[in-house]
Amino acid sequence: MTAESKKYSEFTNPNLEIMFTAEQIRHRVAELGKQITKDYADKDLVLIGILKGSCVFLSDLMREIDLKLSIDFMVVSSYKDAQVSSGDIEILKDLTHPIRGKDVIVVEDIVDTGLTLFRLLEILQTRGANSLKVAALLDKPEPRIKKELKIDYCGFQIPNKFVVGYGLDAANRFRNLPFIATLKNPQEISA
Ligand code: IMP
Ligand code: MG
Repeated sequence: MTAESKKYSEFTNPNLEIMFTAEQIRHRVAELGKQITKDYADKDLVLIGILKGSCVFLSDLMREIDLKLSIDFMVVSSYKDAQVSSGDIEILKDLTHPIRGKDVIVVEDIVDTGLTLFRLLEILQTRGANSLKVAALLDKPEPRIKKELKIDYCGFQIPNKFVVGYGLDAANRFRNLPFIATLKNPQEISA
């Protein structure tokens, strides 16, 4: 095999510094699933995944919830792209089924400023759900603007660092990493 044809490995990219291993995540997600299984016995549970970041977390979490449940997805625009810190969010893809009378858990990858999720919850609150809670794999409390936002099921609290993997991206890359990592050199992400 020539040097040129050497197999590339995204998972061992030297720019990545692991923060949580796949095993640590699996263990924590199982704990959250057990807790939700306890809390939602006899409820009409719907998990709403906020795409794209929550796709891996939702997929693992729902398999740790031993209850009757359904799932749905939303896509919302981010404030950061618009470079504004207030105003409305745009719903790019809405739910396919009504949530009236349902017990809803919104599943997010990470809560940072909290602006997106706060506004999304305000919108969902008008739709007649029986209950509305939040599960987020990661909580970055330091940059939080919406301090009143409650994360009912939180995987890990992390410092104010940009993380990738397990659904989280940098420029749409790294969502497929089975672990969560920081980038040693964020400028080099195209490498
Ligand atoms: P917020 O409105 O500032 O809380 O934005 C949260 C959203 O920003 C998350 O759902 C992610 O899509 C994105 N985000 C925030 N922090 C990170 C990070 O460290 N890595 C990747 N995406 C992030
Ligand atoms: Mg997101």
